[in-house]
Amino acid sequence: MAKLPDHVGIDFGTHSVKAVELKNISSDFPELVNLGSQITPRGVINSEDKADQTKLSDVLKKLYDSSKIRNKSVVMALPEFSVFTRFLEFPGVKLEELKDAVYFEAKQYIPMPLDEVQLSYITIGFNQAKNAPRVLLVAAPRKIIDIYINVAMNAGLELAAIETESVAMGRAMYRATKKKDLVMLDFGANSTDMSILSEGYLVFSQSIAIGSDSLTQSIVNKFNFEYSRAEEFKRNYGVVENVLEGKIYNVLSPIVESILVEVRRGIEFYKNKTLVAAPMDYILNGDGALLPGLMEYVAKSLGVNVSIATPWNAVKVDNKFKDIITKSGPSYSVAIGLALKDE
Ligand SMILES: Nc1ncnc2c1ncn2[C@@H]1O[C@H](COP(=O)(O)OP(=O)(O)OP(=O)(O)O)[C@@H](O)[C@H]1O
Ligand SMILES: [Mg+2]
Repeated sequence: MAKLPDHVGIDFGTHSVKAVELKNISSDFPELVNLGSQITPRGVINSEDKADQTKLSDVLKKLYDSSKIRNKSVVMALPEFSVFTRFLEFPGVKLEELKDAVYFEAKQYIPMPLDEVQLSYITIGFNQAKNAPRVLLVAAPRKIIDIYINVAMNAGLELAAIETESVAMGRAMYRATKKKDLVMLDFGANSTDMSILSEGYLVFSQSIAIGSDSLTQSIVNKFNFEYSRAEEFKRNYGVVENVLEGKIYNVLSPIVESILVEVRRGIEFYKNKTLVAAPMDYILNGDGALLPGLMEYVAKSLGVNVSIATPWNAVKVDNKFKDIITKSGPSYSVAIGLALKDE
């Protein structure tokens, strides 16, 4: 496949849009050229309304201006909740027949009319025992892709490629940890995305429709606080058990638990489909991962090893960016993964 030009990775979150530009991406130690983020206006993500798309293009223009990014070539991620992925194996199918086989099988698995989606697949190795090529099938609604093509065009950018958040995240996490088997959880504002990296390949992803904003909202509902005050309580106390007599913990932990119920379901589904045990190493991403006590909570509840992502590990960062990087913790993982895409 043709190599991609040098480009900027752009992650559209419901809370913020994040951009990262790297250079020397094929080397072991790519270098940060520039980065930035901007708050996302409410309701514009995935909106088919032209006025909303203009707002999103304006966010990109602002992002470019404020962070002085110059490179107009971009790779974007579709929000995970808008794409459908499925791991499939094709026993006995030869590589040259794989494409036809994938497209033939796809209709059984895709929960949308095929003429409304753009299908693609990523080959992810070979199951020797079954003599079966393995693929990750990805279906993205054409309507949603068109939105991002428009948004990029209106902002004067050239869209070099589109992929899913989880594929980008897998690339970033593999580079940062060198671990080939991981469960990745991305705690965003509106949703928590879960994905599994096995032998270095992304093999599973799902979006859970509960995000970190639900935690804030639950504090608002329980204590009648202003939203900003509730947000402060969430960020200060999180799911740490014995503070404020457990008042915040008692409100937040059932919601975190309801996310973990879906994570367990995802793991069961994965095990049943692949007959492989799920990885025991979990890595937390997204700004929601900064919730105090979350890492310990997940470790205890699922009985697994948990760490917070350090996506900048494998990136050379000039001192002038050190402050932002330290503050931003795991928040740029998807944008870094997009910036690292090299074909
Ligand atoms: N220090 C913190 N502690 C706990 N939660 C935090 C902290 N900082 C930010 N958050 C929460 O993280 C969420 C935003 O995370 P992020 O920027 O990763 O979301 P997003 O990528 O824009 O959204 P999504 O992935 O759902 O589209 C918000 O709900 C915010 O309240
Ligand atoms: Mg996100």
